[in-house]
Amino acid sequence: MMILLKDMRSLSFFWDFRNDAILLARNGRIKRDQIQQKCRYRAREMISDRLSARSIDCIMKPRVYIETLGCQMNVADTERAATNLRASGYDLCDSESEADVVLLNTCSVREKAEQKVFTRIGEVRAARPNDRRLKVGVMGCVAQLEGASIFRQAPSVDLIIGTRATDRVAALIDRVRDGERKVIDLDERGQHDSWEVSPVERHSPHVAFIPIIEGCNKFCSFCIVPYSRGREKSRPAAEIVEEAHRLKNLGYKEIHLIGQNVNSYRPGVEDGLEGFRGATLFSRLLRAVAATEMPRIKFTTSFPRDFHPDIITAIEENANLCDWIHLPVQSGSDRILKLMRRGHTRADYLKRIERIRASTRKLALTSDVIVGFPGETEEDFRETLSLVQQCDYDSLYIFKYSKRRGTPAASFTDTVSEDEKKARFLELEEVHRKAQREVYRSYIGRKLSVLAERKSSRSESDLSGHSTCHKVVNFTGSSKLEGEIVDVVVTEAKRNSLYGDLVERAGVA
Ligand code: SAH
Ligand code: F3S
Repeated sequence: MMILLKDMRSLSFFWDFRNDAILLARNGRIKRDQIQQKCRYRAREMISDRLSARSIDCIMKPRVYIETLGCQMNVADTERAATNLRASGYDLCDSESEADVVLLNTCSVREKAEQKVFTRIGEVRAARPNDRRLKVGVMGCVAQLEGASIFRQAPSVDLIIGTRATDRVAALIDRVRDGERKVIDLDERGQHDSWEVSPVERHSPHVAFIPIIEGCNKFCSFCIVPYSRGREKSRPAAEIVEEAHRLKNLGYKEIHLIGQNVNSYRPGVEDGLEGFRGATLFSRLLRAVAATEMPRIKFTTSFPRDFHPDIITAIEENANLCDWIHLPVQSGSDRILKLMRRGHTRADYLKRIERIRASTRKLALTSDVIVGFPGETEEDFRETLSLVQQCDYDSLYIFKYSKRRGTPAASFTDTVSEDEKKARFLELEEVHRKAQREVYRSYIGRKLSVLAERKSSRSESDLSGHSTCHKVVNFTGSSKLEGEIVDVVVTEAKRNSLYGDLVERAGVA
């Protein structure tokens, strides 16, 4: 299908909907060599003198490109915003060059991530300097924290969307496109906001994220999240269980229950948990979600202080609760843990690890550590090194302390130089890598259950996916297996992934 954009004597320009291209015709004959791809904004310009913006939207839906930075909560927010946009007559696209609106979904957990936003705003504008129709918005944590000051820092930004405004994105963009300048929404979620995410907006056709709790009440002294995401709010279990059922019926093989601290889950109502026992509301929720028979269930992140051993018991009882626990420790020194206001000691943490290690299931363990927290001495750092050695983590995310304005630690004197932070980072990484190599090697010869998620980036004939212990596993197999859960015997351990041989099943491979 095509529409005429502009007629100029012997030249005509048509918009080709199917190929998203402008076609050029001379004396009524289309010149195939004069097709201009990906130039919607130019096409819109050509008909703007004949049709109103709203009429153009009807024939050429405005497109939004959302770039997601940061954690899984941001990925989930992008999915939700995309659902709202599509339901309101917008199209989503995969590249900023085709977009009428570019939204940057931002992360503020470390200074570097925050700075990146301003670099990206500059790049997006610089790529299309004369396109006055292009609207640029900032959403997510930086938007929530910095608010209207972003307009001052980056005057080319049209719109600021806070962390709880994902269901109002389309209405906010409408206002900007109707000519309103500098639109901002930092308000709370609406009472009837829907958590529904359309399957087409999910980041994967096989793995889905279900947010179960938003925000954080812990106020660790270094962390900005309680300010960017607000107080903890848990979703009713009945809603979560229903979503798990729906995803299973749609063919999803794996769900991740996500939240800043999933095991602090405390909904105000028991709906959906009736009949499911457990020592905490979270372990009851795990049992309730396991009962949906969703093939694989993972959850992240767990907070050490709220990590009840019954979580491990629930895993042992239910094969579909996966073999992976992410339990960030942050430091091995009690003195630093206290300054960080983590609410747990080294011994408390190790007690939880003991239960994980004593499990009848082989559970993978991952963690986060901050090096160079204000006041961290060489001795404190040695304690972190020894804790990491003791825990044999499958993976460890190491961060150099980054001062975040507005957090209690921002007023502590930063005693560790940048060079020292870097040296500690490298030393800890080396210690962890050594242990990790052994952990990865221990999987050689073992049969792992792997969800084949996609073709491997390295070879056309290889598939790549995650095991129940959340390792990336690559193996040779037909693309027909994509979306299937298969058994793979591990033959080789690489730095961040495992390689293996598919265990052939009759009628599948
Ligand atoms: N409980 C949360 C933690 C969110 S922040 C979760 O869902 O993972 C993720 C990690 O970033 C933290 O565990 C911490 O290790 C790191 N981090 C947070 N604030 C930081 C800061 N100011 N400097 C360096 N690292 C930080
Ligand atoms: Fe941040 Fe501590 Fe909450 S690390 S997300 S304040 S648990």
